[in-house]
Amino acid sequence: MSKIHAAITAVHGYVPDYVLTNHELETMVDTNDEWITIRTGIKERRILKGEGLGTSDMAVPAVQALLKKRGIGADEIELIIFCTSTPDRVFPATANILADKIGAKNCWGYDLQATCSGFLFGLATGSQFIESGKHKKVLVVGGDKMSSMINYKDRATCIIFGDGCGAVLLEPNAEGNGVIDSILKSDGSGLPFLNQQAGGSVKPATHETIDANEHYLYQEGKTVFKFAVNNMADVAAEIMERNNLAPDDIAWLVPHQANKRIIDATAVRTGVSEDRVVINIERFGNTTNGTLPLCLWEWENKFKKGDNLILAAFGGGFTWGSIYLKWAY
Ligand code: UT7
Repeated sequence: MSKIHAAITAVHGYVPDYVLTNHELETMVDTNDEWITIRTGIKERRILKGEGLGTSDMAVPAVQALLKKRGIGADEIELIIFCTSTPDRVFPATANILADKIGAKNCWGYDLQATCSGFLFGLATGSQFIESGKHKKVLVVGGDKMSSMINYKDRATCIIFGDGCGAVLLEPNAEGNGVIDSILKSDGSGLPFLNQQAGGSVKPATHETIDANEHYLYQEGKTVFKFAVNNMADVAAEIMERNNLAPDDIAWLVPHQANKRIIDATAVRTGVSEDRVVINIERFGNTTNGTLPLCLWEWENKFKKGDNLILAAFGGGFTWGSIYLKWAY
């Protein structure tokens, strides 16, 4: 019997309507369109506006459209893995909230926190439930409302991040398509360089933590850049080598969208030519857990059955990794 792989059988995404351009940012902080474009490749990002709306509210339209596309009901979903760094609440899990909102009554679920590598880790984890035969329909959702933890007075971070969400459905595949291999890594000594200082159990929210801006995302950009540019490129090259894949064997490189310079370095390191690198950072910025599923969603019509895709990501923690998958439809 041929091995069962976990294949992506549907993908969809959602980005909010509000477009925050570099020019609008120029009116908010001391920055300019040229600096942002040259240093990051970002021109605009989407922001979820509206009282009481959280990450799950972006997941709902993405998942509902995905289910419609695949022609299945929410009650057929067996497991939801919600990859996010901006859950609706500290608890309960956003996966549970999403299940309730879409009417998925026959599933269990959990949130996965691995910052910008979250969706990659979720895809690898979800695949295990398919490969083992435990489940036949697993939903992996990746999304963040980054605007909920960004200080729009801090020019070092507010220019980078945006809001957005995407989702994929994993199902068994006996034709050799689906997730073939993954390399996943983490290094907790990266903590000081990218984190949210207060709001967790170490430093619960107080008036003082609010006054000290400790609930915003903190990033030491230069240090994170150095780690990201080396590790994301290396791990993508490593998974190609271990699967005997030459640059020409790769139909699409799908990198986390953190900085165009990091994406370019990964393309150079893997040898994949520019026209086969999936990039939408200029329109969405860094949506953290949303970048990879949003890329898959936007490029879905260009992928062909059997295409070799290399996904790669790097994020706070530090966390990083790569997945080799064969597109299934
Ligand atoms: O996705 C999770 C992982 N995160 C990442 O991968 C992000 C990695 N880091 C980066 O992408 C980059 O480090 C940034 C885009 C955050 C910053 O770019 P950089 O080339 O590393 O700039 P820098 O922090 O070294 O700053 C260079 C200069 C500084 O001025 P001086 O000291 O040279 O006078 C900054 O104060 O640019 C200044 N600067 C700005 N100028 C205009 C910093 N932010 C801005 C800004 N507009 N928004």
